[in-house]
Order: sequence, then C-alpha cells, then structure tokens
Amino acid sequence: MSGEIRVMGICGTYDLDSANGRMLEILLSECKNQGAETIIWDHGEKPLPLVGENGCWDNPNVKEFQQMAIESDAFVLSSPEYHGTMSGVMKNSLDWLYSKHTSGKVFGLMSTLGGQASNNTLNHMRIAARWIHGWVAPEQVAVPRVKEAFDDNGNLVNEETAERVSALASSVVNNARKLRR
Ligand SMILES: Cc1cc2nc3c(=O)[nH]c(=O)nc-3n(C[C@H](O)[C@H](O)[C@H](O)COP(=O)(O)O)c2cc1C
Repeated sequence: MSGEIRVMGICGTYDLDSANGRMLEILLSECKNQGAETIIWDHGEKPLPLVGENGCWDNPNVKEFQQMAIESDAFVLSSPEYHGTMSGVMKNSLDWLYSKHTSGKVFGLMSTLGGQASNNTLNHMRIAARWIHGWVAPEQVAVPRVKEAFDDNGNLVNEETAERVSALASSVVNNARKLRR
C-alpha cells in the first residue's frame, strides 16, 4: 500500500451510468480532492457470481474483487432501494466480503429512492457492514425522488444533499486515516 488511504466504491447496480454510479463518482471525487486514492468496482465489466452458484468459489472476478478490498482502507456503498432494502447486486457484493477483507475499515453509505426518503437501505447495509467488522460512518446520504435529483450536468440539485455527500466524504477519509494500521 502507498502512503495515502484508498477508498473503494461498490455500486448496487450493474451499470455505473446509473444514479448510484453517479453518487459514487461525486463522493469519490470529493475523497480524491482530500488526498485519498479512489477505485471503483465495475459490476458491468466484471460481474460477481451469486454466492453459492455453481463454480462461484473459483471465479476470477471474485478473487480480484476480494483482493481490491484487501488493498483498500475504506469502502463506500451506494445502492438503490428495492422493495424497502438494498439491491440484490449490493447484498451479493457484501456476501463476497468477509472480515478478513474488511475488519477495522471504514464504510460510508448512500442510497437512492424512486419515492420518498427512507433509511431502510442505509440501515440494512449498516447491519451487513457491521457483520464483516466494518466501522460505519454516522454520516450517510439518502437521495429521494431520484429522477429529479440531478441537473443536466449530473450535479445534485438539492444543496443539503450535496452538503451531506461532502460531510460523508470527509468522514470516510478522516476516519480511515485514523483507523489505518
Ligand atoms: C425492483 C425495484 C424495486 C424498487 N423498490 C423501491 C422502493 O421500495 N422504494 C423506492 O423508493 N423506490 C423503489 N424503486 C425505485 C429505485 O429505488 C430507483 O429506480 C433507483 O433508486 C434508481 O437508481 P439507479 O439509477 O442507480 O438504478 C424500486 C425499483 C425497482 C427496479
């Protein structure tokens, strides 16, 4: 590992050209501005098999995903809310991570919703991250009514949401620096 902390983004969709892909892009760019290295897993390019699926244990994408996690100091998760919880893509991604990849590392959480704001997905990801011994930042971001959330340039329309993203980026970077062994 180099001198700076590395933040890994994990998206709850296959397509990074999605609202959650954009949320990760915004947040990781703020982390970069604060001196962190950033990297993002692209499920579209390198899909992870379902845990338990035939042949999954030897899948090269899984090994690369886990290695990327080992080499990262912090994680940012961004998932759409599906039926009141995180997407299957996000849950399956977390199922491929064990405490040996994530223990003692910071997690930052974001979620987007078609409807009104809810903390369900954030809370469910918080439980899963805790299960793999992550330190979840208290700052978090929910983006309600996601179709109206971005302007034509892909920037967040709501100032308060944008401020929450900045606060989350600062928390992830500062706490990852403190916790890094
Ligand atoms: C299967 C499915 C279930 C959904 N369930 C919810 C829901 O429970 N609450 C909600 O506000 N939006 C729900 N939505 C809307 C998504 O949250 C919304 O399309 C998503 O946040 C957009 O993000 P994306 O562009 O990254 O996919 C659902 C969408 C799908 C496809």
